[in-house]
Amino acid sequence: MANDPRFLLPFDQGLLALPAQNMLVIRPVDTFGLNDLPSDGLVLEQGFKPMHDALAGAGYSVVPRATGTFDLTIVNLTRSKVENLGNIARAARMTSGMVLVNGAKTDGIESTLRQVRKETEIAGVLSKSHGKVFWFEGSLPEAWEKAAEPSKNKAGFVTAAGMFSAEKVDAGSQRLAEHLSGLKGRGADLGSGWGWLAAQVLSQDITALELFEADFYALEAARKNTDDPRAMFHWVDVTTLPKTREPFDFVVSNPPFHVGRAADPDLGRAFIKAAAEMLKSGGRFLMVANRQLPYEATLEQYFRQWTPVFQDGQFKVFDASRPRKQ
Ligand SMILES: C[S@@+](CC[C@H](N)C(=O)[O-])C[C@H]1O[C@@H](n2cnc3c(N)ncnc32)[C@H](O)[C@@H]1O
Repeated sequence: MANDPRFLLPFDQGLLALPAQNMLVIRPVDTFGLNDLPSDGLVLEQGFKPMHDALAGAGYSVVPRATGTFDLTIVNLTRSKVENLGNIARAARMTSGMVLVNGAKTDGIESTLRQVRKETEIAGVLSKSHGKVFWFEGSLPEAWEKAAEPSKNKAGFVTAAGMFSAEKVDAGSQRLAEHLSGLKGRGADLGSGWGWLAAQVLSQDITALELFEADFYALEAARKNTDDPRAMFHWVDVTTLPKTREPFDFVVSNPPFHVGRAADPDLGRAFIKAAAEMLKSGGRFLMVANRQLPYEATLEQYFRQWTPVFQDGQFKVFDASRPRKQ
């Protein structure tokens, strides 16, 4: 998924003027088109660590959550409607000039446009490559921002729209939690989300648990959900972790398997590799995966011992040990 240059159309067509400085871009997924924006005071908001690092590496000023006032803001849609309306209302509050909203049809740009139009006058709309960019100036309901703020879900955990399984405990994590007995020592949870699985691990007789998560907002929620001095939190891309940590006694993971909409088993494979590299030679790795995901060969590559300890129509849980040092 790349930024679509459609967000540059209103400027290219002379319908809008770029400000001289002080622009905010919310949720750019890559650098595509950003070079055409004025660099003076340009701030990018991106809380997903792999994208954050790629943007920062290209020399942009990137923050997980922007504050301040901007002359013009571009909001790129994510896949969460509540998060999108929250981002647009927040952008409107922080912006003295126009707010541009850019998104694909599959991200709900049409319904977003309809909702914004009910609240304020739309100054322009352009369509390109299965999506739209529209722009407006003015304020939007505070309730949109409130709805996107973290709050407790049905399970009593703080989450917010846009996080993995924000509304309810993930069924895969639940399956994995049924196999935690016997964990001991110091462990890691890779892709810890808002911390439900971590809470189950911390209910075991362990000495410490480090939570590794790429989604800044989910990790912040996990901090609120984990009132335990044995827990430590890391905002990281698990697939690029340096090998500098003291090895762990155990690693648990319900690894991600999506980049955008497409299933990508390589992501889970990279998590298996990271787990093997983080473990002591006698360490143990517990993971859950959707049944159809082909992780067995990777487990074989990185662990001397591994066995499926649970399998049903939906999930499989693996218990692996004795990592092979590569
Ligand atoms: C299947 S969810 C598991 C969530 C959590 N363990 C639970 O109990 O619900 C996978 C998590 O991995 C995170 N993630 C995705 N890519 C990542 C990466 N490269 N590094 C670290 N975490 C990542 C996602 O944000 C998501 O929270």
